[in-house]
Amino acid sequence: MDIVPLGPGFGAELRAVSLTDVACDDAAYAAARAAFEEHSLLVLRNQEVTDEIQLAFSRRFGPPEVTKVGSQGTGTNFVILTTIGADGKVVPSDHRMAMRNRANQLWHTDSSFKRVPALASILSARIIPGHGGETEFVSTRLAFERLDPQLQKQLENSFAWHDYAHSRGQIAAGLATPEEIAALPPQCWRMVWRNPANGRGALYLASHAYAVEGMEAAAGKKLIDDLTAAATAPGTSYLHQWRKGDVVMWDNRATMHRGRPWPAGEPRLMIRTTISATEGDGVVTMRPPSWQAAE
Ligand SMILES: [Fe+2]
Repeated sequence: MDIVPLGPGFGAELRAVSLTDVACDDAAYAAARAAFEEHSLLVLRNQEVTDEIQLAFSRRFGPPEVTKVGSQGTGTNFVILTTIGADGKVVPSDHRMAMRNRANQLWHTDSSFKRVPALASILSARIIPGHGGETEFVSTRLAFERLDPQLQKQLENSFAWHDYAHSRGQIAAGLATPEEIAALPPQCWRMVWRNPANGRGALYLASHAYAVEGMEAAAGKKLIDDLTAAATAPGTSYLHQWRKGDVVMWDNRATMHRGRPWPAGEPRLMIRTTISATEGDGVVTMRPPSWQAAE
């Protein structure tokens, strides 16, 4: 396996390795896992991707999420990200599917609004528009390391509230359905996720974050907005331009990402698998101390 660095200080392309190699071979998995912990974002190109192969690769890294209510693929291990409707045509821009796609264009990390947050997401390109539709990434590990030590210390001991309805509400009122709101109550997470494998901290931020525990609402929101702006400053991102056969995997503990727009009317189909964070990934350290004591 060759590891070729990609982005501004993070990200790497894995060459001479396939999804099946990682799924079936312990040494290939160990090398891919080490690269994941180190680089936060992995790209594999020219893959022969099926749902089964993608899931077998994903399972290596931990337990796959079951897709939530209200998303395409609900009840399975796959999230279907598309604006192609049931009739095979691209949906109009005011359709719920198109609006949800716009919500994906806000900087976020996947699943911070769930009871169990995500370690990793694995995304494969199945139908790609002629241009646009890239996925853009930043390292929240590097963003954390750029902050002054006093603020780093403050954030290590701060907790933010994350809510799916909040991020969707930025696109349109009522975009999160009552069913989703009932299934996804707000979650409170430490604002820094320290990776147990290497000890490095990363800002844990997302468009889902709306308040900081113990801070007045406007001040907490401003802190989240300022940190997001700093983490996504010009020159800090890696823009992935999708080609057929691409698979991208990222560490939701140490990155944020956003989808980029593409011409309305052009179809795009991406399939995501998502791996839940476990104790070994540091999830227990992310909960407020009162919750940890209760467990
Ligand atoms: Fe996402």
